[in-house]
Amino acid sequence: MERDPKKLRSHRWFGATDLRSFGHRSRAMQMGYDAVDWAGKPVIAIINTWSDINPCHTHFKQRVEEVKRGVFQAGGWPLELPAMSLSEPFQKPTTMLYRNFLAMETEELLRSYPIDGAVLMGGCDKTTPALIMGATSMGLPFVFVPAGPMLRGHWAGQTLGSGSDTWKYWDEKRAGRITEAQWQEIEAGIARSPGHCMTMGTASTMTAIAEALGVSLPGASSIPAADSSHSRMAAASGRRIVEMVWEDLRPERILTRKAFANAVTVTMAMGGSTNALVHLIAMARRAGHASFGLDDIDHAGAAVPVLANIRPSGDRYLMEDFYYAGGLRGLMSRLKHILHLDALTLTGRNLGAALEGAAVYDDDVIRPLDHPVYERGALAVLRGNLAPDGAVTKLSAAAPHLRRHSGTALAFESYAELKANIDRDDLDVTPDTVLVLKNAGPQGGPGMPEWGMLPIPGKLVKAGVRDLVRISDARMSGTSYGACILHVAPEAFVGGPLALVRTGDRISVDGPNRKLTLEVPEDELARRRQAWIPPEPHYQRGYGALFARHIRQANDGCDFDLLETQAGPAVAEPAIF
Ligand code: FES
Repeated sequence: MERDPKKLRSHRWFGATDLRSFGHRSRAMQMGYDAVDWAGKPVIAIINTWSDINPCHTHFKQRVEEVKRGVFQAGGWPLELPAMSLSEPFQKPTTMLYRNFLAMETEELLRSYPIDGAVLMGGCDKTTPALIMGATSMGLPFVFVPAGPMLRGHWAGQTLGSGSDTWKYWDEKRAGRITEAQWQEIEAGIARSPGHCMTMGTASTMTAIAEALGVSLPGASSIPAADSSHSRMAAASGRRIVEMVWEDLRPERILTRKAFANAVTVTMAMGGSTNALVHLIAMARRAGHASFGLDDIDHAGAAVPVLANIRPSGDRYLMEDFYYAGGLRGLMSRLKHILHLDALTLTGRNLGAALEGAAVYDDDVIRPLDHPVYERGALAVLRGNLAPDGAVTKLSAAAPHLRRHSGTALAFESYAELKANIDRDDLDVTPDTVLVLKNAGPQGGPGMPEWGMLPIPGKLVKAGVRDLVRISDARMSGTSYGACILHVAPEAFVGGPLALVRTGDRISVDGPNRKLTLEVPEDELARRRQAWIPPEPHYQRGYGALFARHIRQANDGCDFDLLETQAGPAVAEPAIF
């Protein structure tokens, strides 16, 4: 766009000479602004997901001022618009229930106000895809500012990783190997700075995906939240969005099929979270790639080795180490042969340019291609009569002997039933048992909670068992690990084959060959299907009822059916009367 202020979207609010514009200008003046603030300047919305109840975003109160500084420096007018904060540790039953809510809020904030471009501030798990989905549907230029990982945790001379060490030491406590006092010390040492989880969980995966897609500044996603570079990145993002508005650099030019292929490659090379598969599909479809699905991800990712030696796929390091070792740019510099280097990024230049000068400074943290953490295909899509529309597993985080396994099912109808029984001493379970949880999917959970790392039965924990094949229609935290098969689709709640599993059935898993089989004859399954009674709906009113009416299955990205198509500016403009 030539720098003609009359072509700015906000000009319709502030530049006209009619009665409505009088109202807009006089009310801006009521807030202490003057013509110098808006005249001829792009209006930049800063969608801030800061909240007193989101520990991953506590620094956003300061960062938003730094984003504003950058916007001012570049000649824009920043306006902070708070949006729902999806706080992973506190929001129940699960933040996933509200991902689409935040996406809708983001889209409608941008649509209904006089906005020319947006800076999106997120990082805690679902905030990243939600903000990107909403802004993509609106179609205005945007920059995503990632929250950045928190610093490493510490306890008794050891490094602690978010989530992963919680599960690990909880099992140690259940087995009687650590004391209550030690457990409390771990509680105080595992999260010690602002920022999102610093393992390769969903947050680190999704912010890396944002950068790989080209909607964050190069290098942004790896910077620890507490590092002063993070402040400078925030200001630089503010400067860049103003230029993007003048360049009319809209998301449809950046979020191409090649950009999503790059994001899949990065997800795999990072040993990323299984949650990323759901979000990638949802984001890609919002960007107009309606056919993008699990098979695209599996095919594109099957040949990619895991290079990031970050827990839980890796055995030792955390995101702070990753940053010092060269960060995402360093990792991507090792994947140039399979990345689409011609994909455009928000810089206005292509990915190849964004990687100029990138280097790796520690080969143990970011492994070379000939010495990967995991050979290839860390995340695998399984299919079979138990999951006709697919299921997902993280092979790199499973005990090697369970990647191919056959065992007898121990099935639970609900998470409550599982919790009430899992530690019973008389539970009929062995290290070969396949634990099955039903009714934990998008409709069943509701919201597909992160229950998929089903707890190992107490009597097996005491016997030293640390992994077991576990199958569910739930998701699991990206910081979790183990032979967990997740996102089984269709889910049990809507009558998928998972609903038909009974304790004692034989189930076979073949990760390398992508197979998941319920070894029960078809005529018996048909009898069970006939007898199946649909569960009562969870909600009769409100957002929950809307969610239940419109939510799609995991293999379709769990978007609402009425939102998943590309919207874009053509249908985006409100009338101003
Ligand atoms: Fe916010 Fe993990 S709790 S990213």
